Amino acid sequence: MRDAAPQTIYLKDYAPFGFDVREVNLIFDLAPNATRVTSRIRFAAKPDAEHPDFFLHGEQLKLIRAAIDGQEITPTLTETGLTCDVPDGAFTFEAEVEIDPANNTALEGLYMSNGMYCTQCEAEGFRKITYYPDRPDVMSTFTVRVNGDLPVLLSNGNPTDSGEGFAEWHDPWPKPAYLFALVAGDLVAHSDHFTTVSGREVDLNLYVRPGDEGKCAFGMDALKRSMKWDEDVYGREYDLDVFNIVAVDDFNMGAMENKGLNVFNSSAVLASPETATDANFERIEAIIAHEYFHNWTGNRITCRDWFQLCLKEGLTVFRDAQFTSDVRSAPVKRIGDVIDLRARQFPEDNGPLAHPVRPESFQEINNFYTATVYEKGAEVIGMLKRLVGDQAYAEALDLYFARHDGQACTIEDWLKVFEDVTGRELSQFKLWYSQAGTPRVKVEEDWGDGTYSLTLSQSLPDSPGQVDKQPMHIPVAVGLLGPDGDEVRETQTLELTEARQTFRFDGLAAKPTASILREFSAPVILEHGVSRDAQAFLLAHDTDPFNRWSAARVLATETLIGMITDGKTPGGDYLDGVLSVLRNDDLDPAYRALMAGLPTQSELAGVLADRGLIPDPMAIWRASETLKQAMAQHAQDLLPRLHSQMRVDASYRPDAEQSGKRSLGSVVLSMTTRLDGGELAASEYAKSDNMTLQLSSLGALLRAGKGQEELAAFYDQWQADRLVIDKWFGLQVSLAEPDQTCAVAQKLTGHPDFHWKTPNRFRSVLGPLAMNHAGFHHGDGTSYALLADWLIRLDPVNPQTTARMCSAFQTWKRYDADRQALIRAQLERIAATPELSRDTTEMVSRILD
Ligand code: PHE
Ligand code: ZN
Repeated sequence: MRDAAPQTIYLKDYAPFGFDVREVNLIFDLAPNATRVTSRIRFAAKPDAEHPDFFLHGEQLKLIRAAIDGQEITPTLTETGLTCDVPDGAFTFEAEVEIDPANNTALEGLYMSNGMYCTQCEAEGFRKITYYPDRPDVMSTFTVRVNGDLPVLLSNGNPTDSGEGFAEWHDPWPKPAYLFALVAGDLVAHSDHFTTVSGREVDLNLYVRPGDEGKCAFGMDALKRSMKWDEDVYGREYDLDVFNIVAVDDFNMGAMENKGLNVFNSSAVLASPETATDANFERIEAIIAHEYFHNWTGNRITCRDWFQLCLKEGLTVFRDAQFTSDVRSAPVKRIGDVIDLRARQFPEDNGPLAHPVRPESFQEINNFYTATVYEKGAEVIGMLKRLVGDQAYAEALDLYFARHDGQACTIEDWLKVFEDVTGRELSQFKLWYSQAGTPRVKVEEDWGDGTYSLTLSQSLPDSPGQVDKQPMHIPVAVGLLGPDGDEVRETQTLELTEARQTFRFDGLAAKPTASILREFSAPVILEHGVSRDAQAFLLAHDTDPFNRWSAARVLATETLIGMITDGKTPGGDYLDGVLSVLRNDDLDPAYRALMAGLPTQSELAGVLADRGLIPDPMAIWRASETLKQAMAQHAQDLLPRLHSQMRVDASYRPDAEQSGKRSLGSVVLSMTTRLDGGELAASEYAKSDNMTLQLSSLGALLRAGKGQEELAAFYDQWQADRLVIDKWFGLQVSLAEPDQTCAVAQKLTGHPDFHWKTPNRFRSVLGPLAMNHAGFHHGDGTSYALLADWLIRLDPVNPQTTARMCSAFQTWKRYDADRQALIRAQLERIAATPELSRDTTEMVSRILD
């Protein structure tokens, strides 16, 4: 259990390990409650280290035997590892330990899921498998033998031998222990192959539980497309004879990039048209790409320590976003990412959990797999690319791979390749890695004598442990539109480096309208001095699709805020603007669907709080409902035509074209349901033959207060499909009315299928509870208490998932005193739980601070 005083680890304390690891040999004798792990590890003291301390991490291990160079030893054991005297020079350390995978519910280390053995080692899970220097800067080759009476026995690298009850694997590429993996079970393979650009034949397998064979084809295809793309765009070739992916039901995260043996949450890889939505397919494609791309950005070049996590994650998220933009629609991808960034990263960056993209301290590293490290980390790469240009970016990446292959690196190494390639000095830019918080950029304009000037001022709010910050290096992409909507100045990147700076555009015939922060060129909050008329103009004319969407978003936000704070009625500028976009058949349907979307209620609460107002969740909910109703009425005449235009007659494909039509079709269906009381939705449900349509029509019915029969039929139809039943749970909670949300969630937690120890199922109810803004923040506080009850219950079983879900409370200081008191009481109740995990302790105390 947890030690009394949790330790804080600091970046500044980094010190290398005193030994090199030359070779690792592991033998696993699998048994559910008593798996034996025999290790033989070749160590050598580093030439420059004088009698370094020999400490190996190890947790929850039963040591059976240890030896050095064949001589048995009695090492000193502590809570966190093992230490002993070692000879000078090179030596072989051996250990035999016993572990209990069947009782490992934390899903870290070696555990079992539905009879299958599976590992998860990132970040520090290998120490629950055997004694080892479990740190990413210790890299070694691994040879693994798995003994077990199971048909499929997998580990990293290439298969070298196998027979009745055993298999041997060798991974020739030195890797840190966090990339180790082992899988064993009664699995079936969906197989294919890929020939790399230099002619290497690679066997590809997607291993799944019997019964899931029909959900593999898309993931496999996405894998092959990813392999090709990384060759074409980054010149990166795969480096083993096999690439295996395994789907597992019990998993804390989306997926894991273990060398040659990726392990996926089954929700992140399994899909068929009948059971998965278009959004699921797109997410799967992106995660497959992400994990595959890690083979170079993460595995061949890894992180020196966990503070450098963004080195692999920010870059790999950036790469997977490039992939998605290439194979789908770039503007649609960008808009989706920005919606996500504002929904998840901005609240984190502007609340008690704010931390730099490269954090400087932590208690539990698992708590730093955050939207800031991942998504803001990717934004930083995008800004860097914009500042140096595509050509220099490509050269810098080539240099990065050439210079650092096989190494464990830092952000300094990463920035150095850019400095070396471009000759630019990047120290101010580097502040993006160390200063937390979302910069605010205030816009002022001036016009006279053919000159338009734009004055940009930046400020960065204080965040935990950081005050009085320095100005950042912010790339602001700007274009100018003339009075007729034609572009009079093409997009250019203004480099805002000072607290306040003026940029001039000369020789203009008339006062232009500025389109600022095109493509969302920096993760900042723009404080527009731009009028509502200018926003409506941009909504109609902007040539940058992102900013055209952004104008619609600003207008929607201002409309809603006017309704909430002043009881205004929805403005015609916004409604007309959206209507004209909806009826514009030249625009991509997916894009039109996004243009019709409203900011989330939680985002509105954030905007209100930012302006010094106290958000009232019920008022926000009512305004959103009213505006949606007004929009539906405004578009009434258009809806039937649009509905039939969006019908897809061809057989189902989850590609951008078809899914775009379905997404606009679903917007039309929601609007229609507000007008016809559910008639169209019921008939669509009855004839739905894919999950996208089935779920959107069921959702429309539930939102209209109907659909109980369909809901029951849906359950009967999909009872045996765990991934679909997750959706069935989630939908009910996310669509419940504010005063019903808690009761609905409570009831579902009593359902016989609520297998709460499986993270996907736990999240399917408690996730939407926290996301249903008005329902979660219902004035009586019952939803807060329900979530806290379940977090307290899950913590001893699975600290990692518990801690992550505590972030539902991170925005608590936005709300009124009563709500704050209710939330504080729950946070304090969680904090006071005996034996609370280090993970959850750290999260709750940071949130309370
Ligand atoms: N490294 C994984 C990814 O980004 C995420 C992960 C982290 C998975 C920790 C499991 C545990 O792809
Ligand atoms: Zn990743």
